[in-house]
Amino acid sequence: MAEAGWVRVAATADVAEGQVLGVRVGERDVAIYHLPGGDYCASDNICTHEFALLSDGWLEDGCIECPLHAGRFDVRTGKGQGAPIDKDLDVFEVKIEGGDLLVKLPG
Ligand code: FES
Repeated sequence: MAEAGWVRVAATADVAEGQVLGVRVGERDVAIYHLPGGDYCASDNICTHEFALLSDGWLEDGCIECPLHAGRFDVRTGKGQGAPIDKDLDVFEVKIEGGDLLVKLPG
């Protein structure tokens, strides 16, 4: 039985290594990152600065760069990497089950 809070968001094959995928889960936009080396991470997909989808940005050196004003967040911690970002991003736990990616979303 699935554990509470865990939601299947994509197949592992949907996110190529080095890429980011935006998915809609209920009311929430989630970004799934496949880091070079194989790890997956997940965060809110909406920039904390203004409205932009981070999945339209660039994943580089463990950070996602916002397509609108080039703000950057560490995708493992959600930490903003300086101006214009003054609020960190929510990040979510990810696990793999078979070929599926599951993300643990808060309530
Ligand atoms: S909207 Fe993302 S940096 Fe401005």
